[in-house]
Amino acid sequence: MIKALKGQIVYSESSNKLKICENGYLVYEANKIKGVYPTLPEEYEGILVEDYGNRIIVPGFVDLHVHAPQYAFRGLGMDMELLDWLETNTFPEESKYKDIIYAQKAYQMFVDNLKKSATTRACIFATIHKESTILLMDMLEKAGLATMVGKVNMDRNSPDYLREETEESVNETISWLEEVQKKQYQHTKPILTPRFIPSCTDELMCKLKDIQEKYQIPVQSHLSENYGEISWVQELCPKSEFYGDAYDQFGLFGRDSKTIMAHCVHSDEREIKRMKENGVFIAHCPESNTNLSSGVAPVRQYLEEGMHVGLGSDIAAGSTENMFVAMRYAIQASKLRWRLKDEKLSPLTMPEVFYMATKGGGEFFGKVGSFEAAYEMDAVVLDDKRLIHPQEMNVEQRLERMIYLADEREVYAKYVVGEKVSD
Ligand code: GUN
Ligand code: FE
Repeated sequence: MIKALKGQIVYSESSNKLKICENGYLVYEANKIKGVYPTLPEEYEGILVEDYGNRIIVPGFVDLHVHAPQYAFRGLGMDMELLDWLETNTFPEESKYKDIIYAQKAYQMFVDNLKKSATTRACIFATIHKESTILLMDMLEKAGLATMVGKVNMDRNSPDYLREETEESVNETISWLEEVQKKQYQHTKPILTPRFIPSCTDELMCKLKDIQEKYQIPVQSHLSENYGEISWVQELCPKSEFYGDAYDQFGLFGRDSKTIMAHCVHSDEREIKRMKENGVFIAHCPESNTNLSSGVAPVRQYLEEGMHVGLGSDIAAGSTENMFVAMRYAIQASKLRWRLKDEKLSPLTMPEVFYMATKGGGEFFGKVGSFEAAYEMDAVVLDDKRLIHPQEMNVEQRLERMIYLADEREVYAKYVVGEKVSD
């Protein structure tokens, strides 16, 4: 059935310019967008129109990098850098997900809040534990969100309580994929998730490539986030030319496997060139990179080179699932980088961060994150009446204000793959 939403419609076709259609119609059939029109075309006369009045309608936000099991300890223990933070906070917390009762409680909080947010799609790290990973996938499917979820692989450099044997990691991953296939989820897909090079032996990485090929699944991991991490990878993989090359040597760095690398804060020119050649997606996580004093990624360069860039909350190194926060941090971090580090890369603009939070990250899922024809119908209706202003504002000003001020309270309705997500 063909239907339409009516309201103040905003979306991106390219990174530097917003498309705005005031009092426009977003026409869609089942799960696919037909188009955006200032007046309803004759051929659509009589279709069901949901009129959202003066509210703003945007594509749903895409969180390209988030750790579900870290949700419970958001905002705690931030005064450390990456490797200490992992040992002290993250690994002890993630080990609790062996206990399915704990996982049930903690994952429910994550899923409920993600559902309330303006996020429609996410690429999610779970833990090494197969059972609780499947539980998380069941919950996300039930919530009506469209996600990719990874059982994490780790067979070295972590405490005994959060480390798998190599064979165990391989077998559990295969068994997880087999079970997930049987579930026939509609919108919840598996994604191969070696935590990062320091957590995975060469033998494991080779076997994960075999699994990736056999099951034809995408890949997510971390790259060039922190100086200590980068030099550790050089020691662990002396044959690699640079960090990203260590993944590439195992065939887990784009090319024929669709891949997200989170962070890319300190990628050198060789790494950037390889990411570009291989079509790797970059998940820019500016709040995380601030909290763990990692640095600021050269996102302006990535955009100028035409690379794939989206935004990630990176909970719990980032404190919130709210993607408006990721957008405002991306702008703010880029301004500090420009002023303090490199005046050649100008700060990011509002249309650019909006693009990254929608179409930029959405491309990882296919035709997602825009309202152009044939895109999947993910939309969020935003009501900004809480953010009152004594003067009239245009749609672009209202959107900019939401990027700085909004949270889940502004989410009035949400559609994922053509279905309205209900409370
Ligand atoms: N690198 C490896 N694991 C992690 C993690 O959980 N969070 C972040 N920010 N970086 C990582
Ligand atoms: Fe992360």
